[in-house]
Formats: sequence, structure tokens, C-alpha cells
Amino acid sequence: MDKGTITEYFSAEKIQQRVRELAEQISNEYQDLKEPLVLIGVLKGSVIFLADLCRHMTIPVELDFIGVSSYGMETKSSGVVQITQDLSRPIHDRHVLLVEDIVDTGLTAQYLFENFESRKPASMRLCTFLHKPAKSKIDAELVHFVGFAIEDEFVIGYGMDLAEKYRNLPYLGVFSKN
Ligand code: IMP
Repeated sequence: MDKGTITEYFSAEKIQQRVRELAEQISNEYQDLKEPLVLIGVLKGSVIFLADLCRHMTIPVELDFIGVSSYGMETKSSGVVQITQDLSRPIHDRHVLLVEDIVDTGLTAQYLFENFESRKPASMRLCTFLHKPAKSKIDAELVHFVGFAIEDEFVIGYGMDLAEKYRNLPYLGVFSKN
């Protein structure tokens, strides 16, 4: 284990409350769809958020996942994004909601948007659990649904990791080295 202290940033209760609100907002905005909304989770960080979000949604959804290269053992973005696992089905003519754990620089989201645009979905939007606006290098309009905007801190838990650890924490924490 890394030597450090975890300070709670958002409690599990606060997270669950916000996720329910987001699910309601998304369900309302897409309620007239004639077909299921395709939720695409970005592996691995979004898995916990996506699992909670979709269970509170009241419209039909389909789930798919895309794997992208992560920071590895680093806590800073390399800016290089690579697809490590592609979608299981085409998204041509489908309404797509990309679900991310966190938009930091936004380079991952931007890369995926550009990649998915070429597959000609009927529509595409982004939902992220967290957004760090101070660091974001992308057009704010791309970030359509946001759970929480946070300061420029390295956070862990609720799907997010430090060198693959802490994803299973039900709350969000800030890790500081001792
Ligand atoms: P971006 O491309 O800089 O927006 O970074 C996106 C990805 O970096 C996220 O999907 C996370 O996997 C990871 N990431 C960015 N900031 C954090 C953080 O504070 N904690 C854990 N992972 C992070």
C-alpha cells in the first residue's frame, strides 16, 4: 500500500444523492427517445458511477464500454490516449451518452468524441461524475452533464484509482503522501 492519508472529499450519501438527481435529469432530457439510449462507460474509472447512474434512470438504456489507456502509475495526464478495448456494437444512428469518471484535461473525452463522431451516431453527449474546470482544455459545452465540479486535486474512490487501488471506496477522497 502507498503510504499516505485519505481525506474524505464527498461522502457516499452525498454522491448517491447527486447521482439520483443526474439520472432524473438525463431521463427527462431523453424521455422522448424511440429507442434505448446507449450509455458508453469509459473503463475502468466510470464503472461504479455508471452502475449507480443507470439503476436510477427511468428510460430504456443499453450499456457498452470502451477501454482507454490510463495514467498508469502517474497522477498526471500524459496527453496520449489509446483505445485498448473497443465497443462491442456499432453506434451508427444511435443516441449515445459517453459516461466518464472525471474530466481533468479533457483530452480523453475530446479524443473519444472525435473517434465516435466518425461512427456517425444520431447524437452524442458527455456525462461525467467529476469535472476539474481549472484544468480543462476542452470546450465547456462538450461537458453536458456534470455530477460535481471540483478543485484541482487528485481524487480517489468511487471508481477512481491511484495505481489501480482505492476504486472500491464508496466515498470520494483526496490522497496525500505522508
Ligand atoms: P483527462 O484526459 O485529463 O481528462 O483524464 C481523464 C482520465 O484521467 C480519467 O478518466 C481518470 O481515469 C484519470 N484521472 C484524471 N484525474 C484524476 C484524479 O484526480 N483521480 C483519479 N484519476 C484521474
